[in-house]
Amino acid sequence: MLSETDARARGLADLPEVQSDSLLQLIALCNADPRPEKIDVGVGVFRDGEGRTPILKVIKDAERILWETQETKSYLGSAGDKRFAELIRPILLGDLADDDRIAGVQTPGGCGALRLGFELIATANPNARVLVGTPTWPNHPPIIRSTGLQIVEYPYYDRENFAVRFDDMLAALDDARPGDVVLLHGCCHNPTGADLSTDEWAAVASVCEERKLLPFVDIAYQGFGRGLEEDAEGVRLMLRSCGEVIIAQSCDKNFSVYRDRVGSLFLKTASTDSTARAMAHVFQRAREMWSMPPDHGAAAVRIVLDTPGLRQRWHGELAAMRDRINSVRKRIASADPRLSYIGEQFGMFSMLPLSRDQVLELREKHAIYMADSGRFNVVGLSDDQVDRFTAAVVEALDA
Ligand code: LMR
Repeated sequence: MLSETDARARGLADLPEVQSDSLLQLIALCNADPRPEKIDVGVGVFRDGEGRTPILKVIKDAERILWETQETKSYLGSAGDKRFAELIRPILLGDLADDDRIAGVQTPGGCGALRLGFELIATANPNARVLVGTPTWPNHPPIIRSTGLQIVEYPYYDRENFAVRFDDMLAALDDARPGDVVLLHGCCHNPTGADLSTDEWAAVASVCEERKLLPFVDIAYQGFGRGLEEDAEGVRLMLRSCGEVIIAQSCDKNFSVYRDRVGSLFLKTASTDSTARAMAHVFQRAREMWSMPPDHGAAAVRIVLDTPGLRQRWHGELAAMRDRINSVRKRIASADPRLSYIGEQFGMFSMLPLSRDQVLELREKHAIYMADSGRFNVVGLSDDQVDRFTAAVVEALDA
């Protein structure tokens, strides 16, 4: 006998509540706070010393060129802007760019690349489990789950000692099953700022190769850590050592085109034939999800990279963003010995040794908005907010 609820047609009104993404909730909370002195170190966008997220000058110039020269907005196809992917290739792959077992495609941001990569894995091996380090970016698990793949956590960061739990991580990978996927952050680990060293990347690559695990590297901040080349070291090491690798790449941060959604998915398989077959599946999945990626941002990035003068100036603007990140890190690190680890880490994020209650108290008392986990965006701080921020954090640590 069907109950009354089962018997009637279910409609949109029957949808359960959604637990919305904590970072998006934080943006809304901060926007709603009327206190003028509020400090937003929540969401990960680069801000300059005055607290603005300006459009890069080279992007403005490229958009002007695009406006003047673009003659049609007719469809490009599921691969999007092929020249864009060709130009990203050497930036990401370095001297491996000539390897024709590696192929890439434009995607809507790094998120689109992640989703597409996990869709491909779910098609190839629905029983694959995805090993995800803890903590990780809060949107990784929902993206993986949305493809039906199962998640297994591995320990990544030791909050007490501000270090990667490398032995524990390696032991977890040693226990994985052949065909399992290992999600890795290419550089500027989000949320911890703690990256793998070169030797650690090499050890992870050998375990992946020995145990037939599939490394999936998410690289969203290339150029924000040590430099464009240095930040791609881990990706390239995995590609050199492993037969199959997937890479989700994003230009949203290093070209500061966040809302334009610019990224790419690269993959390597054992042969050019199997790569071509895998890419045919990639195009099919892309067609089902977004048909074709948005063009504008990728076209602007393509023009920057294809125009020698602009390309050169992009290197300068990127270096200026990186220098700001590293100088704010140094300033915070020098404020108190308990914060010195922040000067040793990379990228926009670090985690403060604060409990959730302490984070909430900073929000109430000082209008400082950071993720409940204690993750904060180093360059969310304008130059004149750094001292007030560190003083409030030190007060919380002393309490
Ligand atoms: C972040 O981690 O804050 C950024 O990657 C923005 C986002 O989409 O979550």
